[in-house]
Amino acid sequence: MKELRGRVALVTGASRGIGAAIATALAAEGCDVALAARSTEALASLSTTLGQQYGVKTLALPTDLSDERQVEEMVQKTMAAFGRIDILVNNAGAGIYGDMAALCSANLRATFDLNFFAPIAAMHAAVPHMAAQGDGVIVNIGSIVGKFPQPLGGGYSASKYALHGASGAARAELKSDNIAVVLVCPGLTDTEFAAHSRVSVPGVEDMQGERHAPLRGVPPQRVARRVVKAIRRREREVYITLFDRLVVLGAQLFPGFFAWGLLLATKIRRRRFAESRRRMTDG
Ligand SMILES: NC(=O)c1ccc[n+]([C@@H]2O[C@H](COP(=O)([O-])OP(=O)(O)OC[C@H]3O[C@@H](n4cnc5c(N)ncnc54)[C@H](OP(=O)(O)O)[C@@H]3O)[C@@H](O)[C@H]2O)c1
Repeated sequence: MKELRGRVALVTGASRGIGAAIATALAAEGCDVALAARSTEALASLSTTLGQQYGVKTLALPTDLSDERQVEEMVQKTMAAFGRIDILVNNAGAGIYGDMAALCSANLRATFDLNFFAPIAAMHAAVPHMAAQGDGVIVNIGSIVGKFPQPLGGGYSASKYALHGASGAARAELKSDNIAVVLVCPGLTDTEFAAHSRVSVPGVEDMQGERHAPLRGVPPQRVARRVVKAIRRREREVYITLFDRLVVLGAQLFPGFFAWGLLLATKIRRRRFAESRRRMTDG
């Protein structure tokens, strides 16, 4: 999809972080953008800013993506407003932290609803329109921890593994409709992701909003620039940094050595969780 000007893009999780950066980058390229998330005010504000700054059409779509009916409506409203949908960016997502064997299953299901079932429902709703147009790009935001397990983040990892698997299958199935499926695997990115993730640890079922040290990774704008390039080139799978790519390669080529690293990571993260749990119970 070489020319992006005049295209219509629907971006989920556009109220902040990586999604807001992707929506901004696409608007800067001249795309009309539909912005979905739950935070009505943040969406309205970004929608106004992008319209004024780049002269594109914008649409704020307050949506709870864990409700499949709302996901369908989000796509229908985009079609009603713009008459087409060229780019779907399935970006909204959240983490869940805690020992795999002790995760609260309701929290794990909620994580899958958002990280896995919402992108599937969005693809389901958008693909018939893209197929009728004879063109489209679907971007699924995965993670490097969808390539190897994240200790004490296994529920989140599992939801991304599921999304990665579905993306690969959909890519092959949709090729004949000229619809590309791009899987993006960011590593640590500087957003509010951790603060909005669920923490599900033994003794404290759900410490929603627990804050860890802020994520000091690459700026979300860097992820967004890479996503725009990947859309243009209809790339298959994308990493943001060389470090991310090497870690994933290392996990695949040296599984024994990598497993040892995971043991170490488990110890470090367990200590961090214990500290934050102590802070929660003390405070
Ligand atoms: N940050 C990282 O280090 C990192 C690394 C790899 C992959 N990722 C992935 O990148 C994507 C974006 O994450 P981020 O870092 O930008 O996190 P973030 O700052 O927490 O943003 C998450 C976005 O998802 C939206 N969202 C959450 N729950 C929702 C729901 N039920 N319905 C609709 N929207 C919902 C949020 O909006 P509302 O709260 O307004 O609904 C927000 O716009 C996620 O898929 C994440 O897994 C992040």
